Amino acid sequence: MKKEVIVVKKLTKYYKRKVKKEDSFWKHLIKRDYEVVKALKEIDLSISEGEIVGYVGLNGAGKSTTIKLLTGILHPDSGSIEVFGMNPFKHRQRIVARIGVMFGQRSHLLWDLPLIHSLDLLKKIYNIPDNIYQESIELAKKYLGIGDLLKIPVRTMSLGQRIRGEFTAIMLHQPEILFLDEPTIGLDVITKNEIKKLLHYLNEEKGCTIFLTTHDLRDIEKICKRVVVLDEGRIILDDQVNNLLNKVESQFLSVTFADMRVPESLLQFEGIEVLSKDKNVARIKYDRKYYTIESLLKKLMTNYNIEGFYLEQPDLEEIILNLYKSRRNKVVV
Ligand SMILES: Nc1ncnc2c1ncn2[C@@H]1O[C@H](COP(=O)(O)OP(=O)(O)O)[C@@H](O)[C@H]1O
Ligand SMILES: [Mg+2]
Repeated sequence: MKKEVIVVKKLTKYYKRKVKKEDSFWKHLIKRDYEVVKALKEIDLSISEGEIVGYVGLNGAGKSTTIKLLTGILHPDSGSIEVFGMNPFKHRQRIVARIGVMFGQRSHLLWDLPLIHSLDLLKKIYNIPDNIYQESIELAKKYLGIGDLLKIPVRTMSLGQRIRGEFTAIMLHQPEILFLDEPTIGLDVITKNEIKKLLHYLNEEKGCTIFLTTHDLRDIEKICKRVVVLDEGRIILDDQVNNLLNKVESQFLSVTFADMRVPESLLQFEGIEVLSKDKNVARIKYDRKYYTIESLLKKLMTNYNIEGFYLEQPDLEEIILNLYKSRRNKVVV
């Protein structure tokens, strides 16, 4: 079994939020002028070296809070956190040298200066050896195309260009873990794709563990191997993406019949629901308890003359949205 690099047990975090009270004669007698927000409620999570974990949740679910706790920016109210076997709040300096952190809104770059100045400065701050620094810059040139950006002041960059710069900055020292808070927010598909390829390279070739948050479920399926879903401060799902997709009970298939129309007898098949018919094409929902894709196609082909078919891949987004829905129905608010 692989070494665990992050171990979190019963992690709880509260925030106190000031509440504006109406001015009243009794104001000074009321002691509590704040409310407690339970951002994280007894979270258990362990992540092994080399994993790519997507941490998903709606706005306000507690994703950023988790990253702040894991990177030692915040202190937990109860529970424990170990990163590389150390408490991140107590051993912040030692841990920072081995991780890279990116928050969407905060920048590692000097706004008015060309990107290369920021990178050179980070090299000095982190004491990055020349060979590692050069290798990282080459990687960023290859995967993110930053060659043309090095001499440009950060403030004149587009969002996509700046994020390319930010990525370069946080991977310069070749960290063992990358913590990325909503790294793909607002990015175009090309930049997203470049980032995905870079992350996969760092993961596969450098053994980098990646923990990224997002509220966009489509990113997870493309980038991550494991998904953890956070809802109102609690983990409600933690599984490998492949497992989840395999567990889906029904799947969708479009079949094109050689005859001019969809045969009526198709409706009689057990475990099949014909969702729509358009001339000679039928969109079918089939139950995976009854059929594998192979057995279904075999059955169709022995009964009908089939011209072609298209299997729709199950969608992680749909699985997770259904999970949210079923929780909302159960939980009495
Ligand atoms: N500094 C803060 N003070 C008070 N409440 C906060 C603070 N930061 C976050 N919260 C609250 O904690 C909850 C979780 O926030 P956050 O971790 O930022 O969620 P996410 O990143 O998933 O959107 C939210 O209800 C948010 O309003
Ligand atoms: Mg957030």
